[in-house]
Amino acid sequence: MTSLHLSNISYSIKKQVILDQLDFELNSENFILMTGQNGSGKSTLLKIASGLLKPDHFYLSDSQDPRVKKNWHESKGYLRKNLCYLHQTPYLFNGTVFDNIAYGLKQPLFSKTRLNHSEIEFKVNDVLKMIDLQHLRNRQSHALSGGEKQRIAIARSWVIEPSFILLDEPFANMDKQSRHSTYDVINQLKEDNIGIILTSHDPHHGELAFNRHFHLHQGEMIEKSLPDNII
Ligand SMILES: Nc1ncnc2c1ncn2[C@@H]1O[C@H](COP(=O)(O)OP(=O)(O)OP(=O)(O)O)[C@@H](O)[C@H]1O
Ligand SMILES: [Mg+2]
Repeated sequence: MTSLHLSNISYSIKKQVILDQLDFELNSENFILMTGQNGSGKSTLLKIASGLLKPDHFYLSDSQDPRVKKNWHESKGYLRKNLCYLHQTPYLFNGTVFDNIAYGLKQPLFSKTRLNHSEIEFKVNDVLKMIDLQHLRNRQSHALSGGEKQRIAIARSWVIEPSFILLDEPFANMDKQSRHSTYDVINQLKEDNIGIILTSHDPHHGELAFNRHFHLHQGEMIEKSLPDNII
């Protein structure tokens, strides 16, 4: 099981403190709901944790070996590969669903061994089957609905087998049916032992079995108890 300690995370913009020395443990069993008002720093924190945004201060260590601390520069390659950030409105490039999911598998950063065409084919088909979207395999990305795009973007992250997936407001602008299909996909990620942090303004996601709740407020993050907040 991957178990990480992220510490001393600080980030300011123009002297405004957004994140103030945050410190927390993460492991692949975590299914974390992260709440906080607009502008409280949720997206900022997820982007820092996934190696996409440079913080002012940051340390990463393996919980099994806390003495070895790496700063953000030393950790960002690891973070980008293992903590995969998903935007609220995911970007898919022009091309088919297959092309989009296969893309990560062809990148040296994400693929330790070079996969051949049939191995890539197998992995993409497998992940599409898991999320029950095989019928969209050859669909052009621009012809997908918002909810389908979100699920394909999750599949694209999943196929590269990260330890964690960080979902930033995945349900914004989704109708009820898309929400439920996305709940199913997220629950499958959990069955596959992927750690999840999910930001949301709405803590009432009864179909998601969160096991931790972080709340960001004025630069600080507090852990709240469950299940009071989850109905
Ligand atoms: N590029 C930037 N320039 C200036 N301020 C920024 C920039 N990016 C973020 N901020 C500010 O940092 C703060 C945290 O933003 P962030 O997007 O992380 O909040 P959030 O909790 O994700 O909000 P929301 O719920 O609206 O998505 C906000 O006050 C925002 O205005
Ligand atoms: Mg945000």
